[in-house]
Amino acid sequence: LEFRRALQQISVPFDYPVYGTRAVFDPSNLALVEAISRREPARRHRLALVIDAGVRDAWPSLGVAARRYAEAHAARLELTAEPLVVAGGELCKNEPAHLANVQRWLHELGMDRQSSVVIVGGGAVLDMAGFAAATTHRGVRVVRIPTTVLAQGDSGVGVKNGVNAFGKKNFLGTFAPPFAVINDFDFLETLSHRDKIAGMAEAVKVALVRDRGFFAWIVENVGPLSRAEPLPLEEIIERCAELHLLHIRTSGDPFELGSARPLDFGHWAAHKLESLTDHRLRHGESVAIGMAIDSLYSARTGTCAASVAESVIDALRGLGFRLFDDALRHRSRGRLEVLSGLDEFREHLGGELTVTLLADVGRGIEVHEMQEEAILWAIDELERRA
Ligand SMILES: NC(=O)c1ccc[n+]([C@@H]2O[C@H](COP(=O)([O-])OP(=O)(O)OC[C@H]3O[C@@H](n4cnc5c(N)ncnc54)[C@H](O)[C@@H]3O)[C@@H](O)[C@H]2O)c1
Ligand SMILES: [Zn+2]
Repeated sequence: LEFRRALQQISVPFDYPVYGTRAVFDPSNLALVEAISRREPARRHRLALVIDAGVRDAWPSLGVAARRYAEAHAARLELTAEPLVVAGGELCKNEPAHLANVQRWLHELGMDRQSSVVIVGGGAVLDMAGFAAATTHRGVRVVRIPTTVLAQGDSGVGVKNGVNAFGKKNFLGTFAPPFAVINDFDFLETLSHRDKIAGMAEAVKVALVRDRGFFAWIVENVGPLSRAEPLPLEEIIERCAELHLLHIRTSGDPFELGSARPLDFGHWAAHKLESLTDHRLRHGESVAIGMAIDSLYSARTGTCAASVAESVIDALRGLGFRLFDDALRHRSRGRLEVLSGLDEFREHLGGELTVTLLADVGRGIEVHEMQEEAILWAIDELERRA
């Protein structure tokens, strides 16, 4: 039978500014008003604020500061309501009620597609509220103000959002570039030491697959970084964010249509460990363990030298990561449960399983299958060294 075929082709350009600043709600700081009104500077813009409860507790006057800020820039900003405070951490991605709550709130405020939702919080809140905004009217503008090391260096500057469902990490979500991102280092002052360290895992990750010089810098500064001293902390965040932005801009696959996911080094085990521990482990802490497994695995299977794996492990330990967790020993029907992380990773990516391993420090290499014995060996090795 005959058929007609017309190829419809469209491409949609995206751009978003990424600001670095302090005191984002100080009326004399024009970053936020510029970010919101950058496309239509002459008009008044409606905005609503979603705040991570952890951030609100640490910065109780944030709501008042935001109101004063909007009042000081009343010609361009109209704050529609008191901020919505949402539970911080992975809980908000796990429990569907939090998502529905944000969506209902956006409905009640009558937010339209040219209104801005300003989200202040860690990666979990940015993911959840970002998903709520992306699915409201098929996409309300989002200005992200990330408040953790991880979110400022990785998730907050990226193009993804999502929530967990059916026991699967990020099962529901969209690709939705933000309208703008504002990194305000002041917020880091109140972040727990644990979360400061956890966020550095993504910097080690991107250094290992993309930037040998950055990894060498991390190793040189491992002492000050492990104490989360402000200057090196800010530098590690900036370099981490730059590498993630560079990847999104130049990889040719910003919406991850292919199976390759080079910046997900260490993540197949990490995502599984997060659910196996009911999120007792933070994302970054799980990524550190996942990278330790995949580095040892790389050395064992010959994609990199043994010394590469040793330097990864030394660096992660030096920063303060624990590289073994009992959840690595959980079994289901005799098989280590963490191994099913590989199946779930393949399902999430689609197509052929593609895992990034190390070829060298600063250089990843893709493989399409993994040998179970070598993974088990790597886990044994980590337990032995713990
Ligand atoms: N979308 C992406 O591309 C992407 C990439 C990497 C990670 N992630 C996701 O990010 C999440 C992890 O984010 P995270 O590491 O930012 O942790 P988080 O969002 O879980 O926050 C950790 C804790 O810190 C609190 N907090 C946040 N900022 C604070 C501050 N300034 N002062 C005091 N407390 C503060 C939160 O309330 C929470 O209790 C995971 O769900 C992970 O899957 C998403
Ligand atoms: Zn990650």
